Amino acid sequence: MLVPKTDREVRRMQERAQSQTTAADASDGDDGEEAAEAQRDFLSGLAHGPEKAEEAGVEHSVKIETRDLNIYYGDFRAIQAVDMEIRNTEITALIGPSGCGKSTFLRSLNRMNDEIADCRTEGDVLLDGTTIYRPDTDLVSLRRRVGMVFQQPNPFPMSIYNNVVYGPRLQGRLSREEADEIVERSLTGAALWDEVKDDLHKSALDLSGGQQQRLCIARCLAVGPEVLLMDEPCSALDPTATFRIEELMLELKEHYAIVIVTHNMYQASRVSDRTGFFLLGELIEFGDTTQIFEDPQDERTDAYVRGRFG
Ligand SMILES: Nc1ncnc2c1ncn2[C@@H]1O[C@H](COP(=O)(O)OP(=O)(O)O)[C@@H](O)[C@H]1O
Ligand SMILES: [Mg+2]
Repeated sequence: MLVPKTDREVRRMQERAQSQTTAADASDGDDGEEAAEAQRDFLSGLAHGPEKAEEAGVEHSVKIETRDLNIYYGDFRAIQAVDMEIRNTEITALIGPSGCGKSTFLRSLNRMNDEIADCRTEGDVLLDGTTIYRPDTDLVSLRRRVGMVFQQPNPFPMSIYNNVVYGPRLQGRLSREEADEIVERSLTGAALWDEVKDDLHKSALDLSGGQQQRLCIARCLAVGPEVLLMDEPCSALDPTATFRIEELMLELKEHYAIVIVTHNMYQASRVSDRTGFFLLGELIEFGDTTQIFEDPQDERTDAYVRGRFG
């Protein structure tokens, strides 16, 4: 299913449609008529389901765009002039040998590199077309919109329930009912509810590694993200737990833009729609996952995906 799912997306589409109406109303003559027609097509896309919406260019809209992104640690340039587009309702995989800049790039997408003292960013990252690198960007709300899941599951040392409501509670007081609802919705979204619904007040640290990682995903979902960044989220997990996270990612991508760093090429080819290959801080090649793995255009990508190095 490729229809826009979140309320937020639908609202944004409606707003866009609304602004097109205003433009059509304001002008007269052929242009106005064309704009009004485009808007009718757009709205009929909304009304008539996936095919129409896809024709209207709504699906796979660009969520994040990096422009000439350069990231330095002191004098060392770890990311070199990267232009990349990350789309809604897709999984974008970042692959490449250790130390090539995947995590650095990922962290730039919600300004986590700001926490590293000698790290400096040049160029730009746009979220829904707006830079996230303004000095007055609200980092708390940015990281709510663009959540991050790490390699090592890192639940807080508290109950499962309190892990999930931790973020929402920072945003404001919640009634018991509201908190219960967020917990159930987020744990269900992270495919963990059935396993823990009778143990919500037990310590999160008693869960298995795979469950802890799904709890960390639930914790992100609880604050209503639009993008999920995952940095090697399965590398500490066994194959069964890995499989469950991969299945979950395929469900979640219906609602979110997902970016996953993985050095497991099978994982990239199993789950992702598009893949970017990094080498020494450069984005060497970026394209449809099938193309990157079956018909790479750059000999370095070819060598890497055939397992000749890395
Ligand atoms: N905090 C840091 N300070 C200095 N150099 C760093 C820091 N973090 C990463 N680097 C360097 O930046 C490069 C990219 O690292 P990283 O983004 O972690 O790569 P990857 O995730 O692909 O393994 C590496 O050369 C690494 O040594
Ligand atoms: Mg890394």
